[in-house]
Amino acid sequence: MALADFLQQLEELEQAAVRAFDGAADGDALEAARIEFLGAKSGRLKDVQKGLGQVGKEDRPAAGKRFNEAKLAIETAFESARERVQKNASSTKPAEGYFTAAAVATAHAVGYAPKTLPTPFDPTESPPARRLRVGRLHPITQTILELQEIMGRLGFTVAEGPEVEDEWHNFEALNIPADHVARDPLENFYLATAEAAGGARLLRSQTSTVQIRVMEQQPPPVRIISLGRVYRPDTPDDTHYPMFHQIEGLLVDRHVTMADLKSVLRMFAESYFGGEVHIRFRPSFFPFTEPSVEVDMAWHDRWIEMGGAGMVDPHVLSAVGYDPDEVSGFAFGLGVERICMRRHNITDIREFYKNDVRFLRQF
Ligand code: FA5
Repeated sequence: MALADFLQQLEELEQAAVRAFDGAADGDALEAARIEFLGAKSGRLKDVQKGLGQVGKEDRPAAGKRFNEAKLAIETAFESARERVQKNASSTKPAEGYFTAAAVATAHAVGYAPKTLPTPFDPTESPPARRLRVGRLHPITQTILELQEIMGRLGFTVAEGPEVEDEWHNFEALNIPADHVARDPLENFYLATAEAAGGARLLRSQTSTVQIRVMEQQPPPVRIISLGRVYRPDTPDDTHYPMFHQIEGLLVDRHVTMADLKSVLRMFAESYFGGEVHIRFRPSFFPFTEPSVEVDMAWHDRWIEMGGAGMVDPHVLSAVGYDPDEVSGFAFGLGVERICMRRHNITDIREFYKNDVRFLRQF
């Protein structure tokens, strides 16, 4: 046989075999194709191999080399078809052995005999479930809401004021005159905007501004709290931050005394901390209260400074049009972060503002 004819036969055989293996849809079709092409006795590859002996002697090495190449290609095509068919079979049919024959028999015996058993759940098929993290309110927001709720029960309503204030509300009306050190530009965040009515503008340094805004608006009696952000150019450390929160309380009525102030602070603190709290007043000075005190609280025997307080100065009452001979009042301003830190034993105020979810997630 001429070499060219032999090579032609090989070429056709290889193409036909690869096509048959690639096209085999299932195990049975593949087995039929295997017998047709690779059958040991009468497979078509065997037939073509017989022709090898009829090729001229000098052409036989080339013919043999090509025969081996074709045989390898056909066998490789068969192997990959076999893998494909097996994989298909295991993903479309329930894995064999998932329900043992005994389990199926038992199911039928006890009357659980659906025509088809439910398709087995394949845990490898769907992507792994993602763990959802539920967000929560910032601990300071939680504290604010809780303090509002407690003070609400004591009859105090919530008042609000702007964070960008004028000098009148932040200082002047609070009896802090123009030459007072508290008004130093180094102690405040003044804004570089033109002065308006009420003087220069600044980020409020205390929530006491809201006392003035409320009293300007309404006649006595007054019973309000105000919670919000205040700003001071303090260097951050364990207990100081340039932006923090205060809770301001103001009660103006007839015959209000320091004893009322102390009672309200104690009830408030005991509700928040849960348990007995001692309140200690130390003499202090604020331009807008007289007398003025620093408020210390002891819960579980540790004293901690929470803020300032006092009886509203008669000058302040007059400045907003109240009659100091008719009414008196108390006011207090406490650091919200300090209150929250004491309850949760947080030792560094900066933790609140790092935005580290490992810290925030604990509340
Ligand atoms: C005041 O701000 C007064 N307005 C309080 C007041 C209100 C007195 C009503 C009388 C009547 P003081 O500057 O002491 O006071 O601040 C009050 C509290 O705010 C402090 O005790 C502290 O708890 C908190 N505080 C002050 N500075 C910072 C800061 N940089 N970071 C965190 N908390 C602070």
